[in-house]
Amino acid sequence: MRRSLIFCATASLLLVVAAVLLLGLGVFHRVLRSKISQRMVLKPNSKAFKNWKEIPAMVEFEVYLFHCVNPREVLAGERPVLQQRGPYTYRERLSRQNVIFHENNTVSATLVHTYNWIPELSVGSPMEDKIMMLNVPLVAAIEKVQAFGLPSLVNILFSFLVAMKSETLFTSHSVHELLWGYEDPLLVFLNRIDPLLVPDTHFGFFYKRNGSNDGRYDFNSGKGDFYNFSRIELWKGMRTLPWWTSDSCNAINGTDGTSFRPMLSRKDVLYMFNSELCRSIYATYEQELTVAGLWAFRFTPPASVFANASTNPANAGFCTPTGNCLGSGVLNVSVCKQGAPIIMSSPHFYQADPQYVNSVEGLKPNKQKHQTFIDIHPYIGFPVRAAKRLQVNVHVQKWHLVEQTGNIRTLVFPVMFLSENMELEPKAVGELAQLQLQISLLLNIPYILIALAGLFALVAAWLACRHARATSRDSERTPLVVGQED
Ligand SMILES: *[C@@H]1O[C@H](CO)[C@@H](O)[C@H](O)[C@H]1NC(C)=O
Ligand SMILES: *[C@@H]1O[C@H](CO)[C@@H](O)[C@H](O)[C@H]1NC(C)=O
Ligand SMILES: *[C@@H]1O[C@H](CO)[C@@H](O)[C@H](O)[C@H]1NC(C)=O
Ligand SMILES: *[C@@H]1O[C@H](CO)[C@@H](O)[C@H](O)[C@H]1NC(C)=O
Ligand SMILES: *[C@@H]1O[C@H](CO)[C@@H](O)[C@H](O)[C@H]1NC(C)=O
Ligand SMILES: *[C@@H]1O[C@H](CO)[C@@H](O)[C@H](O)[C@H]1NC(C)=O
Repeated sequence: MRRSLIFCATASLLLVVAAVLLLGLGVFHRVLRSKISQRMVLKPNSKAFKNWKEIPAMVEFEVYLFHCVNPREVLAGERPVLQQRGPYTYRERLSRQNVIFHENNTVSATLVHTYNWIPELSVGSPMEDKIMMLNVPLVAAIEKVQAFGLPSLVNILFSFLVAMKSETLFTSHSVHELLWGYEDPLLVFLNRIDPLLVPDTHFGFFYKRNGSNDGRYDFNSGKGDFYNFSRIELWKGMRTLPWWTSDSCNAINGTDGTSFRPMLSRKDVLYMFNSELCRSIYATYEQELTVAGLWAFRFTPPASVFANASTNPANAGFCTPTGNCLGSGVLNVSVCKQGAPIIMSSPHFYQADPQYVNSVEGLKPNKQKHQTFIDIHPYIGFPVRAAKRLQVNVHVQKWHLVEQTGNIRTLVFPVMFLSENMELEPKAVGELAQLQLQISLLLNIPYILIALAGLFALVAAWLACRHARATSRDSERTPLVVGQED
């Protein structure tokens, strides 16, 4: 008994010492660092590289279009009545091609997107469904002629030719044409007059996007510092800091370089590069949740991301020409759309100035359906689920020289929105779940040791008690009993 008592007491003491040493020396943090860095450093033919090249995510590319019910009345100056159509859902595949490793810890590659229609997840058929929509090429052409300040004679000629072409401000096209491109007679005509002003005769919101890429990206390979893994350093040769990529995310704040820390903290600010907006937007912590058993922090862009310069001076760049701000919640991206009068917002003008929702009929902003979010594993730094949601609007106004614009009100006219929803493939979820289990074990080992130490200490105490009682019982048998003194 005495021997077990000594054993328990010693074990308890040793376990405590071990736990304190492990915690103090950060042994497990180092193990974790190396475990995670295996997934976060790109080397040719490594597993990390395979997952990075062919992104193990399922992306649903959902498109909704706004069908205008009353085009005639809109031209007479009434409020547009819009009906949302869709979703028309496509499976989006992302892969990286033309991969080249460089000496300076970067890897250059192009991001290639391919889209395949999924009938089961769509409402309607893109080939058959027709949408009555603003004639975007016509509005863009009007804007261009205006911006180039051509003499009024040319304007009148332009308007005459437009009339001859029987072009109207509203046209009906199939969803497939609107998304993936169709040859537009006005663009054919203008291209013949001036191929420099109108280089392409096609129009489509995602024209040429299927099977193509949006330029060369230079990614950080994570070598040297895995917290920088997959950071976009350059896009088309231009610096893009701050950064984000569609498959990996990191916080902007640096690292101390020795100990392990979660990839993400609640105080971090994430920057996500968005080629539609030609710049990064940021997101901040919203809540903690689990996605298919994986831990995640949800980050969402706060309203200030889309606020105008009065609220968020950083958005002064969207007030073009300088000082010409729109209301909050809408961004003028005309400069990055070759001068087309395109205004971006959240779907249904979520978080925007109410004037925009009220200027049309049929929109109803909803946080669940319309907010952009990204759920990231705080320890692994990998996005486990995300939704990118953006609405395309066209700025229209009456233009006296073009009969087609009738008496239309000045409007930010919604035409469509997309919701790009990312989920990890089951195999990737399985791998991350395994890594998560290892992380939670490793992080908890010192505490498991302390718990064991506590257990041994209890056993030791119990043994000590029994030992003490046994000794006192032994002494009870001796004639000099304490009880007699009572
Ligand atoms: C890294 O090296 C490549 C090839 O030399 C070069 O094109 C690229 O600009 C460099 N990247 C940075 C961030 O300096
Ligand atoms: C995109 O391209 C692929 C391969 O060329 C093709 O199978 C698919 O139908 C295209 N998607 C659309 C929406 O046109
Ligand atoms: C991140 O860096 C910024 C700027 O250096 C600093 O103001 C902020 O406090 C840092 N945040 C955290 C969580 O360290
Ligand atoms: C990683 O990013 C941090 C913060 O931006 C930077 O200070 C550091 O130099 C980067 N490390 C490497 C190896 O690129
Ligand atoms: C958007 O920006 C373009 C380019 O600077 C400008 O010509 C246009 O007037 C702006 N649109 C609105 C509605 O302010
Ligand atoms: C910014 O937006 C607010 C709300 O939409 C609006 O009241 C304000 O006039 C806008 N600021 C400018 C400079 O246009």
